[in-house]
Amino acid sequence: MNNLWRHLDLPFEIKPPTELLNIHYDYPFNVADVTELCGYTNDEVQDFIRSLDPDLTLDLIEGFYTPPGGSIPVHNDGDILCKMNQSFGEDGGILRWWKASEIFKKQPTVSDDQRQYEGDAIDYADRDNCTFLDQVNTNQPTLINTNVLHDTYNPPDAPGRWTLCFKPLINLQPITWDQGIELFKDYIIGEAT
Ligand SMILES: [Fe+2]
Repeated sequence: MNNLWRHLDLPFEIKPPTELLNIHYDYPFNVADVTELCGYTNDEVQDFIRSLDPDLTLDLIEGFYTPPGGSIPVHNDGDILCKMNQSFGEDGGILRWWKASEIFKKQPTVSDDQRQYEGDAIDYADRDNCTFLDQVNTNQPTLINTNVLHDTYNPPDAPGRWTLCFKPLINLQPITWDQGIELFKDYIIGEAT
């Protein structure tokens, strides 16, 4: 199995956040804490995450929009290493991973009061200097490795693609990819438990 993503079979459906889907803001503002911005919460996901381990909580929920024909810059998520994503878009809308020979660092754009911990700098890379690693459609719940450089792509003829990002914290610290694999193991599709 790859070390970048796993599709998940959850015991419930993550419903489209109808209050968010009409918001089409531009990058970098398209990566936003939608809990803070719009008051979006999801009790089913919160309860599910807590059921995996009593020390797990959810950080504020992020949402981002990829317009038709658009993508977001190649980046990693700093100290957020593993997320559960759910997109609402076309099958051709994807998350892609990249390898880069050169990176540059920037501080996260979200303010400290939007996070429950201190954020590290984010790595960025120029897509033209990157080597493609893998891609996945996240229209079903998907555990994703956000420590490796990644971006999104949405086909030109597709409607906008909205994605919710759920960030599990263990004792208020981000989980690693390996911790994610262990915590979600009973819900990973295609992997023995
Ligand atoms: Fe990211």
